[in-house]
Amino acid sequence: MPAILFTNIKLLVNTRQQNELLRGKELANLPCIENAYLLIEDDEIVAYGTMEELLSTVNHQPSSSFDLSGQMVLPAWCDSQAHLVFAASRENEFIDKIKGLSYAEIAAKGGGILNSAKKLNETSEDELFTLAWKRLEEVSRLGTGAIEIKSGYGLTVEGELKMLRVIKKLKQRSKLLIKATFLAAHTYPLEYKENHQGYIDSIIHEMLPVIAAENLADYIDVFCETGFFSPEEMKTICNAGMSYGLKPKLHVNQLNSIGGIETGVSLNAISLDHLETLTESDIQMLGGLKASPSGEVWRGIGTLLPTAAFFLRMPFQPARQLIDSGAAIAIATDYNPGSSPSGNMNLVVAMSCIQMKMLPEEAINAATGNGAFALELQNEVGSITKGKKANLIITKPIPSLAYFPYAFGSNLIDKVMLKGEWV
Ligand code: NIG
Repeated sequence: MPAILFTNIKLLVNTRQQNELLRGKELANLPCIENAYLLIEDDEIVAYGTMEELLSTVNHQPSSSFDLSGQMVLPAWCDSQAHLVFAASRENEFIDKIKGLSYAEIAAKGGGILNSAKKLNETSEDELFTLAWKRLEEVSRLGTGAIEIKSGYGLTVEGELKMLRVIKKLKQRSKLLIKATFLAAHTYPLEYKENHQGYIDSIIHEMLPVIAAENLADYIDVFCETGFFSPEEMKTICNAGMSYGLKPKLHVNQLNSIGGIETGVSLNAISLDHLETLTESDIQMLGGLKASPSGEVWRGIGTLLPTAAFFLRMPFQPARQLIDSGAAIAIATDYNPGSSPSGNMNLVVAMSCIQMKMLPEEAINAATGNGAFALELQNEVGSITKGKKANLIITKPIPSLAYFPYAFGSNLIDKVMLKGEWV
């Protein structure tokens, strides 16, 4: 078995014997080992500890070894919210936004998601795969080792299935661990603008049975928002998805608070994502301090997407209040052509510290271990733990861990390893 030994690691970050979803204050606890070694065999982490422990206890003959003096090693990022299968960028709308139009106004004019859907339906499955593959390669060089990818730019039976088949192929061929989410309920296509039930019926009776038969998705998502899907519609769609084994991971409270959190909690969603616009009551429900009106106390994950708030010039997600309420938080890129045309988790970590006042330890936990939980991949990735995949970020020499989010404009990654292989 090829073995790789890393020695003299300045700081080995997020070392854990056991997986735990971190809530509230626990997010600030990031276990690290100074002056460490790390041993990889094939695609797995097999041992780690201090350099003294290596010299006294480990007797391995590695195939190769690397002296990482001055450098740090982190688990690769787990990006638990992304839409990276799309046909074209939307920089014209970016200009419209600079000139003063809002995200909702662009959507109401037929731009936004509908614009992406039109282009996606004109693009072949092979071309979509090639475009998405390039984006996956880019994000893996930026340190991402696991990612969620959603459908939602098809909005037709053929378009949604085409996207999900592309995601399935990415899953099969990529070194990244990928989870697929079905998001036909991203917006109403024009032909169903006045016939919401017609589109919901198409999702339930035409799309879901094929998705289940071809095993095309792990999760179901709905964009619950004024002008998009109501909480009641979200419930109907999720219940149908759940009857096929798809768990909800939901877009709620990006632009308005219309009851998406209450419904998401009552559906026992794995994660509730976006969360720019929260009432005090929403925050308490996300933290498990308050039950939903139907009595459920939530134990899921709130996924914050700071680059979407940044790009749309919206208030950043209230991370501190959520942490104070005891919520389990993940942070993710929301990589998509409309509200976050960036899959850079390093920027997400930095922005979480700079704009949402998360401590570097909290942001790193949210981008690794808690992100892995939000993908239900916590047994495979998200920390430096024996038996987990060798998904690693090796930094350039840096003075401290806090320097990583602090020097937000610099590329501080020296190398990335995914499943024991260099990216
Ligand atoms: O998560 N808000 C809904 N969905 C995406 C944006 C989609 C788009 O504008 O293309 C998001 O931000």
